[in-house]
Amino acid sequence: MKEIQRTSMNNYSSLHIGGEADLVIAENENNINEIHSYVQSNGLKMYVLGMGTNSFYSDVIKDTLIVKIEIPGINFKDYGDYVVVTAGAGELWDDVVKYSCGHQYWGTENLSNIPGTIGASPVQNIGAYGVELKDILESVRAYDTSTSSFVELSNIDCHFGYRDSIFKQNKGRYIITSVSLKLSKTPNPILMYKPLDSLLEKNTINLSEVRDLVIKTRTEKLPDYKIYPNTGSFFKNPIITSAQGNVLKEKYNDIPLHEVKDGYKIPAAWLIEHVAEMKGVRVGEIGTWPNQPLVLVNYGNATCENLLSFANLIVGKIEEKTGIRLEREVNYVE
Ligand code: EPU
Repeated sequence: MKEIQRTSMNNYSSLHIGGEADLVIAENENNINEIHSYVQSNGLKMYVLGMGTNSFYSDVIKDTLIVKIEIPGINFKDYGDYVVVTAGAGELWDDVVKYSCGHQYWGTENLSNIPGTIGASPVQNIGAYGVELKDILESVRAYDTSTSSFVELSNIDCHFGYRDSIFKQNKGRYIITSVSLKLSKTPNPILMYKPLDSLLEKNTINLSEVRDLVIKTRTEKLPDYKIYPNTGSFFKNPIITSAQGNVLKEKYNDIPLHEVKDGYKIPAAWLIEHVAEMKGVRVGEIGTWPNQPLVLVNYGNATCENLLSFANLIVGKIEEKTGIRLEREVNYVE
């Protein structure tokens, strides 16, 4: 089996938060078989990691082997009007987007510049600017730890929801080894979301314009984790019932309520800014990002405890005033 290293997980979280743990790298499916046998015979838990851009860890991590996936490779198959691009779970998500846009395959462009690996992308069903991974995902290949065998999961099998999937619902069961995307060879721009709607005025829209505008928007709004350690949105946007929405509208008449299937989705950023009044606020070395308070930033050497107590402060204030309990979007490994 590949060598296990004792390492600081601080270096494997873009929030730079976490204590020491045992870590092993998997570069192919055979490595995964071996690692799973080792974990089973030693009574350990496993945490599967891509790049660590959506994870943070407790100050003390016990009985968990961190398995970092570095399975490489990007290729495609042509089916006439569409192609299926398949990438090893260890490839960077944005490298797959760059590859797809470079070949003029439509579908991934709105999801440009999202940090992390493609293997992590189905877990939280990454989404931005009106597109979610589920809209373009063909299938996922994964190791099923409950049967010790490799399986092929179709889009429907993945049970996707808003920042949700079977991989979140059954934590620890699957280890994703590759992801296949179904992409269009004919132009298919999705531009209903601001500021991409500004491109609608044009007669012809090319793929690189959409990608460039997404990259520009994200760069302006979101902090670069290499300078200001963060993991993107820390909380999910909560979904509430229509009845709850109507009560809140009386109290906060400018609250943005976006209609969804079972009620309303509220921007968590709005609640943090206007209800908790914590936009751009810092406590010690943890704070909310001034341009987008849904992002929590580690401004120094904050501990996991510092981060959790800051996050709980936000959750508590919003719950007290609205009854809404924000849920974490980021993975926390204890
Ligand atoms: N808002 C405020 N104050 C702010 C910023 C935003 O009140 O300072 C409110 C506004 O009402 C604004 C709304 O929040 O209209 C939505 O903000 P934004 O467009 O930035 O999107 P978001 O809902 O906060 C989601 C994703 C992001 C994704 C963007 C763009 C989640 C949890 N987050 O954020 O994903 O990039 O949409 O589509 O769904 C991530 O998951 O890490 C992530 C960055």
